Amino acid sequence: MSGGNHAATRLDWISRRGGPLRGAITVPGDKSISHRALMLAALAEGTSRISGFLEGEDTRATAAVLAQLGVIIETPAPGERCVHGVGLHGLRGPSRPLDCGNAGTGMRLLAGLLAGQAFDATLVGDESLSRRPMRRVTEPLVWMGARIDTSEGLPPLLIRGGRRLRGIRYESPVASAQVKSALLLAGLYAEGETEILEPHPTRDYTERMLSAFGWPIRFGPGQASLTGGHVLQATDVQVPADFSSAAFFLVAASLVPGSELRLRGVGLNPRRTGLLLALKLMGADIEVLDERSSGGETVADLCVRHAPLHGIELPPALVPDMIDEFPALFIAAAAAQGTTVIRGAAELRVKESDRIASMAAGLRGLGVQVAETPDGAVITGGPLGAGTVQGHGDHRVAMSFAVAGLVATGSGVHIEDCRNVGTSFPGFMELANGCGFALAGA
Ligand code: S3P
Repeated sequence: MSGGNHAATRLDWISRRGGPLRGAITVPGDKSISHRALMLAALAEGTSRISGFLEGEDTRATAAVLAQLGVIIETPAPGERCVHGVGLHGLRGPSRPLDCGNAGTGMRLLAGLLAGQAFDATLVGDESLSRRPMRRVTEPLVWMGARIDTSEGLPPLLIRGGRRLRGIRYESPVASAQVKSALLLAGLYAEGETEILEPHPTRDYTERMLSAFGWPIRFGPGQASLTGGHVLQATDVQVPADFSSAAFFLVAASLVPGSELRLRGVGLNPRRTGLLLALKLMGADIEVLDERSSGGETVADLCVRHAPLHGIELPPALVPDMIDEFPALFIAAAAAQGTTVIRGAAELRVKESDRIASMAAGLRGLGVQVAETPDGAVITGGPLGAGTVQGHGDHRVAMSFAVAGLVATGSGVHIEDCRNVGTSFPGFMELANGCGFALAGA
């Protein structure tokens, strides 16, 4: 089911050999932090200012949902939001379904937030989101006392209000920051303690931000717990540049001879930077400069220079720390010398598209040898040819093949269905072309 007015028009790109990539750029704000800042600011007492906010379709969808729930959110300037918090119990019941667009983070976190409200609400999403598994959040929320109807585990989610939630101790079978965050948000409304244990530590933005908004919380790698019954106090949030958006440029500049590119103010939360380590293992030349702390997060400039890459056996421990960067890694592996083996990444099959299948099919179309496995792939590096690939409406797949085009031979890479790039990276084409890509609408 499609919940709203999503663009049906297809947008194709053609990416041609280009570069070298040079200069200094700032990629847009972090998507994970932008979603969370909006939600916590909405539930806080007082007015919070968010700067560096991601002006993407995903995060704007979350802002629109909160506005439908009665929260006043002003936009003093692009990348800034002023959120007038309504307090933990100040949200208003919506008169129509709440449209999360393409955003899995939006829908799963909002499911937790809405489970403890006095009113009913329905969460819907676009075609891709409507195919993504929701039981991973609805099941534990039901154990907390929520009532949520799904369509066989898929959206839409009908969340019933007026339920009394109680804290649970939940050992999550899946390493997912979205699951953890949904339960923590429900835990704000629950009686007693909510504790989540993860099989591998995941990004801890919800925990850090709850703490910044004054909610007592205990957390460490792979574990978080809190109790209900406190108050969130408005605070200002400075959002760093999104490492996942920087990732395309790290790979691109590594691949194109003569490149030297500086990426300013990138968030380097250790649960996000697995790709940095993976690329370094492959021989990349990436320097971390001017490391500083901003809003409780480590932020730095990254200077990436061209270097010949070689294949690696990806250490499985890196997988959760680079879960959104696999499409970019597939391109690095395809253009590297030798074989790269990826295992333990089955979660890629339930992202905005089945990213193992999307990337393997696209690379094969460019003449690369790729063997798909249930939880990864074996990629044999070599020259990339020209060809047409499917973007599958998946933003990260589309941007990854734009990087492939930079080093492909012949007439370049024609990428079909790039319409969702704006969910996470508005202005990608302009920024990329400004530093040396040769990317155009097809
Ligand atoms: C996110 C968590 C990850 C990630 C997604 C953003 C978040 O998803 O892939 O893009 O903001 O919590 P999972 O929790 O499904 O691993």
